[in-house]
Amino acid sequence: MSETKTTWKPGKKDAIFFGVVLLVIILLVLGSSERTTKAVPNDTVHQQALNHQTCLQCHGESGVRPQPVGHSRSTQCFQCHTQPKDWQGGMQ
Ligand code: HEC
Ligand code: HEC
Repeated sequence: MSETKTTWKPGKKDAIFFGVVLLVIILLVLGSSERTTKAVPNDTVHQQALNHQTCLQCHGESGVRPQPVGHSRSTQCFQCHTQPKDWQGGMQ
């Protein structure tokens, strides 16, 4: 009698399944970090900063309050940091 052991060999479908699971986890992690992102303060300075260049004068590397190391390089600040309630720019 020959021993026939069924060994599991990951195939293409398994790889796809694993990829989908990984993607869901990544999206969940990214999603949760967005929800804890600090809002932009609703003060005069922030209400009157109308573009990201202005933001980065203070929050760029040499600004008074630089973004943390490894911070996103995205210029769409309000995508993650809630826009001040009385922001004087247009709707965004
Ligand atoms: C004139 C300088 C200046 C400009 C321009 C400026 N900020 Fe700020 N920002 C500050 C300072 C100082 C603080 C921290 C003190 C405070 O809470 O007011 C701060 C706080 C913040 C915080 C909250 C950080 C915390 O610790 O709670 C966020 C988010 C932020 N700014 C984003 C922005 C965005 C987005 C813009 C452009 C629309 C911008 N800032 C423009 C100086 C500036
Ligand atoms: C992709 C999302 C995203 C975008 C876009 C983004 N940020 Fe942030 N930002 C974060 C997260 C998340 C943190 C918190 C990081 C941490 O505490 O480690 C943060 C932290 C900060 C802080 C420090 C807050 C503190 O704790 O003192 C400042 C200031 C800031 N961001 C400014 C900006 C400015 C200005 C822009 C636009 C040029 C911007 N961010 C765009 C996600 C984002």
